[in-house]
Amino acid sequence: MLRLGVNIDHVATVRNARGGLHPDPVRAARLAKKAGAQGITAHLREDRRHIRDEDVFRLKAEVALPLNLEMAATEEMLCIALEVRPNACCLVPERREELTTEGGLNLLADETYLKTYVGKLSDAGIRVSLFIDPDEEQISAAARIGADIVELHTGRYCEALGAAHTDEIGRIARGAKHAAALGLEVHAGHGLDYATVGPIAAIPEIIELNIGHFLMGEAIFEGLDVAIRRMRSLMQRGRSG
Ligand code: PXP
Repeated sequence: MLRLGVNIDHVATVRNARGGLHPDPVRAARLAKKAGAQGITAHLREDRRHIRDEDVFRLKAEVALPLNLEMAATEEMLCIALEVRPNACCLVPERREELTTEGGLNLLADETYLKTYVGKLSDAGIRVSLFIDPDEEQISAAARIGADIVELHTGRYCEALGAAHTDEIGRIARGAKHAAALGLEVHAGHGLDYATVGPIAAIPEIIELNIGHFLMGEAIFEGLDVAIRRMRSLMQRGRSG
């Protein structure tokens, strides 16, 4: 079964534009569950530009779906994760000035640090995912580091046109195969929409997709419930071939 994790960060982006409590990302998470999502993803950024600490605690306490907490591998985030105890932590690279997560982690540059960091989360019973580009060396490093999961970055695939688009799908498919052969669970995400989700859903080793920005944009036009149901049905169609 291919799971959908709905990223609710941008409900908080809209809320924060005005301050106050509206719209509530926890309400969006509950709605996502009703619409068929299998998980909720939230990124607690260092600058708290969308999700805030209290949102993460509420998502864990008030929503009956596994919580995937995206975060940078910092000491501050480790303390928060150990307190919240999400189902999984997805470690992502973070730069203050970026608009979104622009590329995967470079595991080769920080292998020793990440191995210790991942160990602390694993010892607390939290599954650990590493957000990386679909690159064979990065995937092999993820296995050495002791991650449970790799989330393959689909951003380049979503932006590529023509032949490059096909090349990128091939890279993701080969990466997924390599990861699964090493015993890693394989997820994918970033930039996916109705048009790009099918070929990714068709890769059999991928068992979870994390999708946010496009769904929240569509929610403005057709509602979040409809957008999630449509995405789930396109995922299903992509998987069944
Ligand atoms: N996966 C990871 C690790 C991410 O950082 C993001 C963006 O926050 C997503 C998935 C979802 O990407 P998008 O919002 O473009 O669907």
